[in-house]
Amino acid sequence: MSLRLRNPLNILRSHSIALDAGSGRTIITDPQSEVLLDEPTFIAIEYGTGSVIATGAEAKSYLGKAPERIQVIRPIQGGVIVDYDAAKALLSAFFKRIFLADGKRLKVCAVVSNGITDLEKRTFSDCCRAAGAAKVDIVDAPLAAAVGAGLDIREPKGRLLLGIGAGLAEASVLCLTDVIHSETARLGADVFHEAVAQHLASRYKVSIGENMAEQVAQQLAWAERPDEPRSMTLTGKYSGSGTPCALDLTDDDLEGAIDGPLDQLEALVRKTMDKTPAELVADIADTGLVLYGGGAQIHGLDTWLSARLSLRTRLAKDPFLVSVLGAASTLRPDLDFKKLLVK
Ligand SMILES: Nc1ncnc2c1ncn2[C@@H]1O[C@H](COP(=O)(O)OP(=O)(O)OP(=O)(O)O)[C@@H](O)[C@H]1O
Ligand SMILES: [Mg+2]
Repeated sequence: MSLRLRNPLNILRSHSIALDAGSGRTIITDPQSEVLLDEPTFIAIEYGTGSVIATGAEAKSYLGKAPERIQVIRPIQGGVIVDYDAAKALLSAFFKRIFLADGKRLKVCAVVSNGITDLEKRTFSDCCRAAGAAKVDIVDAPLAAAVGAGLDIREPKGRLLLGIGAGLAEASVLCLTDVIHSETARLGADVFHEAVAQHLASRYKVSIGENMAEQVAQQLAWAERPDEPRSMTLTGKYSGSGTPCALDLTDDDLEGAIDGPLDQLEALVRKTMDKTPAELVADIADTGLVLYGGGAQIHGLDTWLSARLSLRTRLAKDPFLVSVLGAASTLRPDLDFKKLLVK
């Protein structure tokens, strides 16, 4: 029997990646911010055997269509791992897709919500390691997002951010590279999708699946009515008869559909400012509110919030990417962000 020794060079050689494994979408970049993977955080597993049938976009496309023997799982919800084994299998599949079989080891800088507990953060790190990472650093999403959005968070100046992901909304005040106060709520884009589905059910007596509700929310829902009319064809079934339906909808059909979640988002930002010291709130009058996360792209949210809160409000460029870009900046020694963000 021959004894095979591991090549020490393989242990030393490592890839560094930034990871934002959110409730809806997982994005991985390299230290230069090049996107290596962008997939829905979904996995399809066979009951009984536990074999992985599909991951990412393919698994998401099974939603509402899979036979009983296949379970479509969202292993991360509201910023935390809710199904450890499924999360491990999914991250492991994603890591393998990037690095194939070159045997190199992974160093991961992962973004997590500021609103989760230390135990939940540790579970996240453990899961990444179990999925193949050699080392895992954790950064708070609001700090990472601020860096990714190009804000200078080292200044003694209050900054207000509102992140809207798929599962969570997080309003935070930052100053001197720290989170001064943060409020999180289950108010991500998933809530918009449910509100849209309910609105259409009561208005047109139609029943639609989760993927169709997401498409309608992205293409037609609005906080401020768009100047250019938009339209799309909705497919689903009529609730009473069960027959298939195809309806042509415009923005007008979505009037009021997401008013409830919008009011709750406004309340979340107000609560955050209410709990922030006056000096910092005075700064925010000058620095304004920055929106990030995929759900912040709901049409007109920036102008609507700006009018409601009397605050200059802007949507970050590439809002769904800023958190992972901030994490990527910690991987570059030349940018000097690691000691600021990794605590
Ligand atoms: N143009 C759009 N308008 C509205 N919502 C959108 C748009 N584009 C994407 N979204 C929504 O953004 C969500 C994904 O955003 P993001 O990637 O920031 O969330 P996440 O990081 O996966 O979730 P979380 O941070 O809550 O764990 C999806 O639910 C998607 O429907
Ligand atoms: Mg997120």
